[in-house]
Amino acid sequence: MQTRKQLQGIKVYSPGKPVEEVKRELGLTQVYKLASNENPFPPLFLGPVFRRELKRVQQYPEAGCFYLRRALAKKHRIAQEQIVFGNGSDELIVMALRAFVSSGEEVVVAQPTFLVYEIQAAVQGARITRIPLSGFKYDLEAMSRAAGPRTKIIFVANPDNPSGTYCTHREVKKFLKMIPKNTLVFMDEAYFEFAPGDFPKTRELLKEFPNLLCTRTFSKAYGLAGLRIGYGIMSSRIAAALQKVREPFNVNRLAQAAAVEALKNKEYLKKVLTHTKKEKKYFYRQFEELGVEFIESATNFVLVNWKRDTRKVYDFLLRRGIIVRQLQGWGWNNFFRVTVGLHKENEKFIRELRRFLQEERKK
Ligand SMILES: Cc1ncc(COP(=O)(O)O)c(C=O)c1O
Repeated sequence: MQTRKQLQGIKVYSPGKPVEEVKRELGLTQVYKLASNENPFPPLFLGPVFRRELKRVQQYPEAGCFYLRRALAKKHRIAQEQIVFGNGSDELIVMALRAFVSSGEEVVVAQPTFLVYEIQAAVQGARITRIPLSGFKYDLEAMSRAAGPRTKIIFVANPDNPSGTYCTHREVKKFLKMIPKNTLVFMDEAYFEFAPGDFPKTRELLKEFPNLLCTRTFSKAYGLAGLRIGYGIMSSRIAAALQKVREPFNVNRLAQAAAVEALKNKEYLKKVLTHTKKEKKYFYRQFEELGVEFIESATNFVLVNWKRDTRKVYDFLLRRGIIVRQLQGWGWNNFFRVTVGLHKENEKFIRELRRFLQEERKK
């Protein structure tokens, strides 16, 4: 049996190593995962919601995510039909490609950036134009120049993963003005909540640019990565196209109910954001002390410029129960990414990093 020819060169996306796997393989009892930009605080306030939903879990979920749709339309002050939900915001990437890109048509991505755009575009049979980052930041001007008449989608991760950098409102607006109206701009705002004040005002831009689709997720600041729920906000016309390619029950019952509750819990979100800001500063201070170069981040992770192959330091940390993310898959062999964890996890990471550097110096 032969797969479609488009699948032949595609590498399977490899996520950060799971805690259980590391425990099993290395015989460790305590492992800290600082690899996948997850939230370190379990949303324990969801207990009663899960108990309530458990009584209905034998039934399919509401396909239209009624309560969540209503809550988000109110929050963003947009019409309900401008929202499309996904099994994680990842699924919106697939839906946009299925809805707008035929085999041989073009998409533009940055390099390196979140790998899912490129993998899924290749699955769709798209031709991919890659625009290198400039000084660790999206080069929006070069991306706009690359957009030709065959360009169907331009993917922008803002803030970006793995660099952690972001583009401001002014930069994004200038970029959008240069993009042809029949090219979809897919603005992936998975780390939106962590970004600073001059971040793009999405609602304002949506009004002016009907070819814009912004995605958000409950996986990061809201701590629901394990439930898989994200959404996109866009013009009603784009939303109608995405609805055609959406799987009927793509967002499960627990995820819908949890997201409604998570939106109400302002305290939890505040705790997460305050903690992330404080701990990022802790990382920065410690890195400076250790002479380790890093890229300042608008997210819940930090990119470290290790300036030499990261395999040794990665293995050293792993054997001591700390999982960070190597970036070989992105072609960045000399960089690694570390997620903000609980303070004790961050402290252990720094302690072990210091130990590695001391041992390295002795050699
Ligand atoms: C830039 C970016 N977009 C999207 C996602 C996927 O998020 P979700 O869990 O909503 O599918 C991630 C996850 O790491 C990400 O870094």
